[in-house]
Amino acid sequence: MRNKIIIGNWKMNLDLADAQDLTFKLKTSIKAKRPTEIAICPPSVYLLTISNILKDTPYIKVGAQNMFYKEEGAYTGEISPIMLKDLHVEMVIIGHSERRQYFNESDKDINLKIKAALKFGFTPIFCVGEDLIIREKGEAEIRVKHQVLEGLKDLSSVEIEKLIIAYEPIWAIGTGKICSGEDANKIIKMIRSTVKEKSTAQISEKVRILYGGSVKSDNFKEHIKYPDIDGGLVGGASLNFEEFIKLIDLANNVHEQTQSHHV
Ligand code: PGA
Repeated sequence: MRNKIIIGNWKMNLDLADAQDLTFKLKTSIKAKRPTEIAICPPSVYLLTISNILKDTPYIKVGAQNMFYKEEGAYTGEISPIMLKDLHVEMVIIGHSERRQYFNESDKDINLKIKAALKFGFTPIFCVGEDLIIREKGEAEIRVKHQVLEGLKDLSSVEIEKLIIAYEPIWAIGTGKICSGEDANKIIKMIRSTVKEKSTAQISEKVRILYGGSVKSDNFKEHIKYPDIDGGLVGGASLNFEEFIKLIDLANNVHEQTQSHHV
């Protein structure tokens, strides 16, 4: 059975004092291992501070929001995998729609970044998702499948097994519009079968695939119940301590219910 995971993507939000405050609150509240894994992805300039706060807290992982695929060189403003290694980062969000949209990241760049992240031992959180025009044309599945295939290009099954994939329909990000559990599950199932095509059935059952886009505790109850939805990539709601904890609790509850069905 796959463990659920809730990942907070803080984006370009919070100042240093607020970032520290939120991290301390999470650290104080998450003292024991629960079935749901937890990760936060602060802005890169705060990564070292946040990793240091969480050094002795193995239950909260730290991720970066982006990474360049080159290891060093004349790339002003970029962050290399070697640098992230020094910051005790375990995960990296790759191909977020905001990076694709505002920073022109192509499927090819994303594939190179996934490869670089794997080479340096990070867990890539590989994001895919369609925009509203594509959704309204009824082409969401085709678009997302294409993104998945491009992202996984030339990866071995062993490498694919290490990925987390996040399905984030662009029209649902930060808009308050949520893709229904049923629709999200449908696309996530398609992503899982694409992963199977590129690896094996066994590996496709191990890869965690998350939903993201206006996730909040009052709408996520529906999504997290679907067995193919393995958690959430959470933007806005991850900046609010109480909301983030509620999302983790929701995922833990689903796990406990599933366990009790198995007994
Ligand atoms: P949102 O962002 O939860 O604020 O919609 C999600 C994301 O972009 O990862």
